[in-house]
Amino acid sequence: MSGAIRYFDNNATTRVAPEVLEAMLPFLQDQYGNASSMYRFAGRSQSALSKAREQVAALLGTSPEEIIFTSCGTESDSTAIYSALNARPEKKHFITTRVEHPAVLAIGQHLEKQGYAVSYLSVDGKGRVSLDEFAKLLNKETALVSMMFANNETGNIFPVAEAGALCRERGVPFHVDAVQAVGKIPIDLSMLPIDYLAVSGHKLHAPKGVGALYVRRGAPFRPFLRGGHQERGRRAGTEAVPNIVALGTACELAGRHIQEENTRVRALRDSLQSGLMASIADAVINGDQNNRLPNTVNISFKYVEGEAILLMLDQFGICASSGSACTSGSLEPSHVLRAMGVPFTYAHGSLRFSLSRYNTQEEVDFVVEHLPEIISRLREISPYCGFSDDAGESDVCPVSR
Ligand SMILES: Cc1ncc(COP(=O)(O)O)c(C=O)c1O
Repeated sequence: MSGAIRYFDNNATTRVAPEVLEAMLPFLQDQYGNASSMYRFAGRSQSALSKAREQVAALLGTSPEEIIFTSCGTESDSTAIYSALNARPEKKHFITTRVEHPAVLAIGQHLEKQGYAVSYLSVDGKGRVSLDEFAKLLNKETALVSMMFANNETGNIFPVAEAGALCRERGVPFHVDAVQAVGKIPIDLSMLPIDYLAVSGHKLHAPKGVGALYVRRGAPFRPFLRGGHQERGRRAGTEAVPNIVALGTACELAGRHIQEENTRVRALRDSLQSGLMASIADAVINGDQNNRLPNTVNISFKYVEGEAILLMLDQFGICASSGSACTSGSLEPSHVLRAMGVPFTYAHGSLRFSLSRYNTQEEVDFVVEHLPEIISRLREISPYCGFSDDAGESDVCPVSR
């Protein structure tokens, strides 16, 4: 085993880019002024915030006044959703999809307990939503729609332009969780009918602990955090200047690298996918191969457990992610794969590889060299091998029966 780390889990989090670290360091060292203070020393923090706001806005094709800094993607999602709902308390219908990140799904569940009607848009076998079904869900009680730009597990890109246009027609505010999409695919908010959009720093080579929320000028807004007047009264709390500088720099870098993301990184992902598919039998790709993020591939290997594969990959220093979470003794496949109807003999053995501009062909070749052997060793000892998934048992796990 070599000590090197081969990191293929960039949808979970990313390394901080060296340029980002360099930009934020002065604000952790000598330039520690509170951006709200009056003296010139603090003025440097204020200017840094303004510059970062411009950098984020530039990546998203919007204006700086429409950007609010937050602590993470989850906070941005919560702020947008509760803000829009609180602005129209008489409306009690919320629409989202079955495959959202828990940052949105958990709000849906909470809202149900609060007396809201919540509609969860279903997906087909490739993880795609139907716009016809979506249009039917919209009604005069609908207070808000929340749809992700791209799915964190499969990389599927959602039809947010079309869904947003339908919302606009009906006068329904539209929130987009773009945590996985920002920096990976171009987003131009000047062209998109989106009212709120969530961003997370640590998914695009800024550190953990910073995010942003786009609020379209004129969109209803109620602050989630109340207190001081920071962020023009829209998000109280002393600004995390180093992190915000980092996010701004990361957004500027992402803008510069977005073409590489869609050419070189995409080619690496495709090389990984074809290398694995050519050398491992009984494997299927989850998601819509014609419309997904350039860095993501999700593959299911029949009859094996994702966690077991991850442990063995870890022996080689390979970091990836599995689609199932082993909780309280029952192996629950991911809610995304379940919503797609992936049979359990496949869903339990799903792996997500998510690349970044720091990955190399050598790393891809290393995975393609070692993973086939790992899968065949696991299949030799698999209790699932030979278990049929043909009889409508897609949601049933043999372990829990
Ligand atoms: C689609 C999506 N939304 C929201 C989040 C939450 O972002 P954060 O970790 O910054 O709170 C994630 C994180 O994985 C995500 O993938």
